[in-house]
Parts: sequence; C-alpha cells; structure tokens
Amino acid sequence: MNKLLIISLTILLIASFASAQKGILGFTPLYSGYTQEQYLCMRNSENGFKFQNLVQKQIWGYDRYHKEGQSYAANVGLSTNSIYIPCINLNNDGFPYFTQENEVLTFLKYYKQNYDNVYEDFVWILIEQNQAQNCQWHSDFVINCGILDEILTQARRVTVANNIGIMSSKNDWNALFGNKCNKHSSYPLHYKNYDNKANFSDWNEQKFGGWTKPTMKTYSKGKYECYIDSDLTVY
Ligand SMILES: *[C@@H]1O[C@H](CO)[C@@H](O)[C@H](O)[C@H]1NC(C)=O
Repeated sequence: MNKLLIISLTILLIASFASAQKGILGFTPLYSGYTQEQYLCMRNSENGFKFQNLVQKQIWGYDRYHKEGQSYAANVGLSTNSIYIPCINLNNDGFPYFTQENEVLTFLKYYKQNYDNVYEDFVWILIEQNQAQNCQWHSDFVINCGILDEILTQARRVTVANNIGIMSSKNDWNALFGNKCNKHSSYPLHYKNYDNKANFSDWNEQKFGGWTKPTMKTYSKGKYECYIDSDLTVY
C-alpha cells in the first residue's frame, strides 16, 4: 500500500514538475493572410506549436482573412483563439452607432457567423493604449474601468462569451486603470512581456490588475520561421 502511495505521489510530482517546466507554445501572426503550407511548416517546426492567436476585429475593422487563417490552422491540427481590439468611442454624439454595446454585439455576431465551432474557441479582449483618433481610452482610470465593465457585460450576454479572457500588459493596464480596476481578475489573463522566456518566472514583477496568476503569456516578438512574422506565446 505504501508503495502504491509513493508511486502515485511520484506520478503527481512528475506531472506538476513537467507542467511547471514546459509550457504549450503558440504564436500570434502579425498578419493573417498566410498560406496553408506556411501553417503546415509552423505545425512541423521544432517549437511544437499547438495554437495561434489571430486578431479578428481591431480598431480599423474586421480581418477578412481570419476565417481562412483559422481553417488553415485547423487543417493541420492547430487551434485558434481570436483577439478583439475594441475602439473606445468617447464621442457618442459624433458616432452614435459605435457605442461599446453595439461594437461588441456586432463583433460577436460576425464571430459566430464566421466560426464553425464557436463554443470551443477563445476570445481575448485586448486592452492596450492606442493613438487612433476616436478610439482612444479616456485619461480617467474610473471612466476606463466603466468602459471595460460595459465591454465585458456585453460580451457575456452572448453564449460564446463563456470563453472570454483579457489580454494586456503591466504597462498598458497601469496607464489605463492604475489600481482602480482590480475586479476582473476572475477572467483568464493573457499578459505581454517580451522577455524571451517561455515561462511565467517574470509574473511576480509583471503582475497587475489584481490577478494572482496568469493563463497565457506572449514572450517574444519579431521575424520568425516559415516566413511568418509573429509573436510567440506560452500557456
Ligand atoms: C524560464 O526561462 C528562462 C529562459 O529560457 C530560463 O533561464 C529559466 O530558468 C526559466 N525559469 C523557470 C522557472 O523555469
């Protein structure tokens, strides 16, 4: 009996040791119009990529190559998470249609129409500073937190939103919310820190927003293999 206990404890230890040591790798293409062959090449790379994060909607509009990129990935056994980059419209008089509510609902409608398996895929809502006219965040932390509430509330109204997480960085988060918005830490967090380490050893000095642990990290950027220019991610 003791032997059995020791064996199962050893297995447990090995399992937790292994998961602490080696993360599952993915990538974020900076452009989504890549070919099927390039996806195959990425799948076969020594990095052993398992998924991609693909921007589907950003400030300037929808990515019409998204669906293609998603199915090319699926064809070679890679899964796809979508990234939504909201435009923060503070000028509701000038652009009355582009309330946060309308924007999120339109995005999710489009997302559902374009996805075959919406219930498995994940959406990261990207929270970062931007310089785009009429899309920038406010300078007030509390107002920004209210805007994020609105985005998440609208996202949760749609079934697919069970799979929603927040993507940001310490720098962006602190610039937009300071420490005035620590209530969303039950959402999975994907943080960015380009320290070239495919693990979470930096989390203690990178943490923000009340999260105690992250789910995913983008750790590297720049030119990559298979002629795909991408950021690298681990979870
Ligand atoms: C994290 O990755 C770096 C770079 O590969 C490595 O030097 C370090 O030992 C790793 N830390 C942990 C806790 O695995």
